[in-house]
Amino acid sequence: MNKKTTVSAFSKRRAAGEKLVMVTAYDAPGAAAAARAGIDILLVGDSLAMTVLGYDNTLPATMDEMIHHTRAVRRGAPEAFIVFDMPFMSYQTSMEKALENAGRAMKESGADAVKFEGGEEYAELVRRLVSAGIPVMPHIGLLPQRIQAVGGYKVTGRGGDADRLMRDAKAFEEAGAFAIVLECVSRETAKNITEALSIPTIGIGSGPECGGQVQVFHDVIGMFDGFTPKHSRRYAEAGKIITSALAAYADDVRNGRFPAPENCF
Ligand code: KIV
Repeated sequence: MNKKTTVSAFSKRRAAGEKLVMVTAYDAPGAAAAARAGIDILLVGDSLAMTVLGYDNTLPATMDEMIHHTRAVRRGAPEAFIVFDMPFMSYQTSMEKALENAGRAMKESGADAVKFEGGEEYAELVRRLVSAGIPVMPHIGLLPQRIQAVGGYKVTGRGGDADRLMRDAKAFEEAGAFAIVLECVSRETAKNITEALSIPTIGIGSGPECGGQVQVFHDVIGMFDGFTPKHSRRYAEAGKIITSALAAYADDVRNGRFPAPENCF
């Protein structure tokens, strides 16, 4: 990863047919690992409310928490291209509030760009942010910040939905977005949107034709037992490894095997 990466590089890479790889990051060690792995973009997602703060959904994440975690990600990966996810109600109430909070994100967290969820009704916000010098990555399709309103996590892009998503994507490209996240958009609609745009689409649960993919860090490393989202693949069993390391430590302490002479001063 190279700090000199600019948003125009992402469109060039899309034109060259290269896939972009984005993963969420919430803390310094995770960000450093992602940077060492050669990930292109780190997203400080509001999913942090669930993955590291223990909430049931993303709604409780606040601007202060997002800034706090993004700073840690920047410290862990000084050269990375970092996207700051605008949390619930940080941009929905007014244009002024949205501009102010996006400005805070850029000034206080060390992020390179902002992301927010929503459709073409936010095209003017994208225009205003871009003209203020803030790169923007809108997020369309399944919008986790609206799960209370839509009644759960549902696939989008089927039936009449497809035309609306295409309109959203084109409006955002036209307004100056540098990339668009497509979450749980049906494969066919995601492919059509990807082909219709010159900026990259970054999919999660939206098929391999997208210009890149994004996944949640904890899903990739296999941190949580039980549910694995259909759109994810576990590349390790980090949760099990951590539990067994901690259990071995506890066992050693209780049985007098730790600390050993080499651990003493
Ligand atoms: O918050 C998040 O992690 C996200 C990704 C799932 C795209 O928005």
